[in-house]
Amino acid sequence: MRAWVNGRLLDDPTEPALPVSDHGFTVGDGVFESVKVVSGTPFALTRHLDRLATSAAGLGLPGPDPDVVRTGAAAVLAGQDLALGRLRITYTGGPAPFGSGRGDAPPTLVVVADAMKPWGGATSVVTVPWPRNERGAIAGLKTTSYAENVVALAHAQQQGASEALFANTAGDLCEGTGSNVFYVVDGELRTPTLGSGCLAGISRALLLEWYGAAPVTGVPLREVDEPLAVLGRAEEIFLVSTTRDVQAVHRCDDRYLEAPGPVTAACMRLWNERAGADSDP
Ligand SMILES: Cc1ncc(COP(=O)(O)O)c(C=O)c1O
Repeated sequence: MRAWVNGRLLDDPTEPALPVSDHGFTVGDGVFESVKVVSGTPFALTRHLDRLATSAAGLGLPGPDPDVVRTGAAAVLAGQDLALGRLRITYTGGPAPFGSGRGDAPPTLVVVADAMKPWGGATSVVTVPWPRNERGAIAGLKTTSYAENVVALAHAQQQGASEALFANTAGDLCEGTGSNVFYVVDGELRTPTLGSGCLAGISRALLLEWYGAAPVTGVPLREVDEPLAVLGRAEEIFLVSTTRDVQAVHRCDDRYLEAPGPVTAACMRLWNERAGADSDP
């Protein structure tokens, strides 16, 4: 692991580097990105930097300078051959009083590079009883206020699953703790709309674009919001995310599914082909 904090590459990435009053630490006032690194090169970095800026604007933080973030990314990647890894970019409100109000200090910017293990084959998911608030002030932003995801993921892991799927307050399917969801039902490939409150996942956007440009099956793809219970009759389910790429789901709650089913397998092939051909799509 290598860490760069406010312009400085740390000698030891585990050394103390942030003030205890950092608003990201004390109240979760921050935004972040996880960027996949393949053979030392970040994947879709431009899209991640754009989303970091969108999330920062959503919190009312000054925009992060994309060139400075790129400098940090280059610094943590330099001199190491990271076959598969991730960059974690974190941008917070900086040092502040102990309360919800911000201070006058400049934001904190941290970039960390670390190795990552591939996910491998199909996985299990469970639906969780806590809703995503699609009408909340931070809906759709990638903020460091992730404790709801921590609780939901622990709940899923207790049941042998690797991801928890949320409905929103309307009861419609929304997303996972760290992934977007696609499913096949009634002859269509579907995914929740951004109006569901899900994160505008970069993997989700890329798959929508790539599948839309050249549908690799005869199955139409549609963004639609419908009750979480639709998963109970889905023929296929898959997750997409920076760390999972396209990952088939073989169990959803107590139901087993073909994994990968034919549409999922086609999307995996499409993903591998398009992502392999362009590191900054
Ligand atoms: C809540 C949430 N939804 C969806 C995703 C998937 O987004 P991406 O494809 O950009 O990784 C993530 C990624 O970490 C996430 O945290």
